[in-house]
Amino acid sequence: MAGVVTLRGVCGIVGYVGHRQALDVVLGGLHRMEYRGYDSAGVAMATGGQTLTVERRAGRLANLESAVEATGRDAFAGTAGMGHTRWATHGPPVDRNSHPHRDATGRVAVVHNGIIENFAALRAELEASGVELSSDTDTETTAHLIARAYADGETAGDLPASVRSVCRRLEGAFTLVVTHADQPDLVVAARRSSPLVVGVGEAEMFVASDVAAFIEHTRDAVELGQDQLVVIGRDGYEITDFAGDTAEGKPFTVDWDLSAAEKGGHEYFMLKEIEEQPEALANTLRGHFQDGLVVLDEQRISDQDLRDVDKVFVVACGSAYHSGLVAKYAIEHWCRLPVEVELASEFRYRDPVLDRDTLVVAVSQSGETADTLEAVRHAREQKARVLAVCNTNGAQIPRESDAVLYTHAGPEIGVASTKAFLAQVAANYLVGLALAQARGTKYPDEVAGEFAELEAMSSAVHKTLETLEQVRGLGRRLAESKAVLFLGRHVGYPVALEGALKLKELAYMHAEGFAAGELKHGPIALIEDDLPVVVVMPSPKGRAVLHSKLVSNISEIQARGARTIVIAEEGDDRVRPFADELVEIPAVPTLLQPLVSTVPLQVLAAEIARARGFDVDKPRNLAKSVTVE
Ligand code: AGP
Repeated sequence: MAGVVTLRGVCGIVGYVGHRQALDVVLGGLHRMEYRGYDSAGVAMATGGQTLTVERRAGRLANLESAVEATGRDAFAGTAGMGHTRWATHGPPVDRNSHPHRDATGRVAVVHNGIIENFAALRAELEASGVELSSDTDTETTAHLIARAYADGETAGDLPASVRSVCRRLEGAFTLVVTHADQPDLVVAARRSSPLVVGVGEAEMFVASDVAAFIEHTRDAVELGQDQLVVIGRDGYEITDFAGDTAEGKPFTVDWDLSAAEKGGHEYFMLKEIEEQPEALANTLRGHFQDGLVVLDEQRISDQDLRDVDKVFVVACGSAYHSGLVAKYAIEHWCRLPVEVELASEFRYRDPVLDRDTLVVAVSQSGETADTLEAVRHAREQKARVLAVCNTNGAQIPRESDAVLYTHAGPEIGVASTKAFLAQVAANYLVGLALAQARGTKYPDEVAGEFAELEAMSSAVHKTLETLEQVRGLGRRLAESKAVLFLGRHVGYPVALEGALKLKELAYMHAEGFAAGELKHGPIALIEDDLPVVVVMPSPKGRAVLHSKLVSNISEIQARGARTIVIAEEGDDRVRPFADELVEIPAVPTLLQPLVSTVPLQVLAAEIARARGFDVDKPRNLAKSVTVE
C-alpha cells in the first residue's frame, strides 16, 4: 500500500497543542489506539497553573475518564497536553506505575514507550541525590532527570534542551513525550528505536506513537528519524537531533482509513504482527545481557538453585508448547540437562516426577491459560521451582512463579500467535543461556557469543520478511488443497508442528506436522499425487547427516507424487532438484533457525486463509486466551 509507514511500538502515546481543549483531543486519540491492547492509561494537561493536571488509572480508559469526571473537566482546561495507554514492561499494571510520570514538583510530566536499559543506574543516581521515586518504572527516572536539567545548569529554563540532555544519557529504546507547567504552549517529544510521528494540522499539532491517534484531524504527518526530538506548538513544529542541530523528518500523507491505520496499513492485525517480529525479538532480548552476563527479569531462584537443577520440564499449550520443543534442543545441548516438554493439559494428570531440583518453565503469551496455570500450581505443590516466560506483565502465571522472563512482543491482537511465538522461542533460548551460565556448562565468552548470535536474529527475520511475496503467491495456489503435511528434523520438527497448527487454525485445512524420520513408520502412506508437503530443511553447514537424511526423505515423497515445498537456507543447492517450490531463508546458526524458518509458514497459512475468505484475525471457534480447562 502506497505510503505505508509501519510504525511499531507497544504503548499508545498522543500529545497535542492547538486551538481545542487538549483533554478532548487526547482522550479521543487514546480511544483510537485502544486496539493495541493496554493495561492502564493517563493524561497530563498544561493548564497554565503552577502544576500540571494529571490523572491516571489502571485498567480500561473508562476508569480514567471516570476519574477525570470526578475531578471535573475544568481542572484540565487547556490547549496543550498528552496521554498514554500503557502495556506494562517494568512494574505491574497498577495506578502508581501508570503514565504520565512526574517529578517531585509535579511541574514536569513524561509518557514513554519502550525500554530504558540503563534505568537502574539512573534510578540509583537519583536516589543517591535524595530523589524519592514512587513507581517501579523506568519512565519515572526521566521525569526527575528532565526536571533537574530544567531547574539548573546550562539547560535551565529550556525544556527542549533539557530533554535532549537527558536523551543523550539514555540507553535502550524510547519514545518520550514531555510537558512542563511553565510551557503551556508547547509539547516536546523524542525518539530512539521506537515510533514517533507528528500530525500537522491547521493551528494545531500532534505527536503520537501511531497515526491512528490523529488521522481524524489531519492526514499530513511527519515521521521522526532515529535520535530526533521535536517541539510542537500551535503554529508549527521544529525538529532537531539530540545534539540540538536542526534535522528533517520524513513527511508523508496517511492514505488509509482509521481501521487500516490501526493495522499499520495491513488488512489484518496478524499480518502487521508478522511484520513486527524483528522488533519483538529485539525488544525481548533488550537489556538481558549486562556486564557480560545473561540476566532474567525477576529471578527469585538463586544461581545455586539453578546449579542444583537436575531436570527441566517445559509446560505450555499450542504454539507456546512448540516454542518449548525448540527450547528442549537448545537447553539439552547447552546445559547437558534432561528436558521434558509436556502439554500443560496433560502434565498434572500423568503424575510427573518432580522435586525441588526440578525447574518447570511455564511458557504463556497471555499468562492466563488455565491449563498452564494449573500445571504451574501442580509443580509448586511438588516443590519444583517455576520460571514463567510470559508476554503479559503482572498476569496470573508470572505472579505464581518463582522467576519470570517477560517477552516484549507487545500486545498480540491476532488470535494466531506469531510475534509472541518468536519472542517465546527467543526467551526460551535466554533461559537456556542463563542455566548454562549458572551451571558453568558454557564459559562466559561462549554465552556472550550465543547471545550475540541471538541478537543478530532480528535482522535475519527482517531479511526473511522481505522475500515472502513468493510465499503469498504459493498460498493462493494452495488455497483449494485438501491437506498439507509439514516435515522437519531436529529443531525443524517443532517448526513443522507450528506450521501445521497455523494452517489448521487459520484456514481450517487439515494439516499435520511430522518428524521426517517418522515418515517410513506410517505417514508415508498418506503421500499421493500433488499432495503439498512443506519440508523445513536444516542448514547444510550444520548437522550434515540431518541434511542428507532429509534430502532422501524429500526424494522418497517426490517419487510418490508429493508436491514438495522446501524451506531451505539460501544457497542450499543440494536440495534444489527435489523442490517443486524452494523458499530460501537466511543462513543462521542451526539451533536458532526456527526464528527464521517459522516466518514463511506463518505467511503461507495467513495467505491460504485469506484466499479462502476467512477472517485471519478471528478464526472460528478460537479465543486469544483459553482461560478454561
Ligand atoms: C497459537 O496460534 C494459538 N493462539 C494457541 O495455540 C496459543 O499458543 C495457546 O493457546 C497458548 O496460549 P498462551 O501462550 O497465552 O498460554
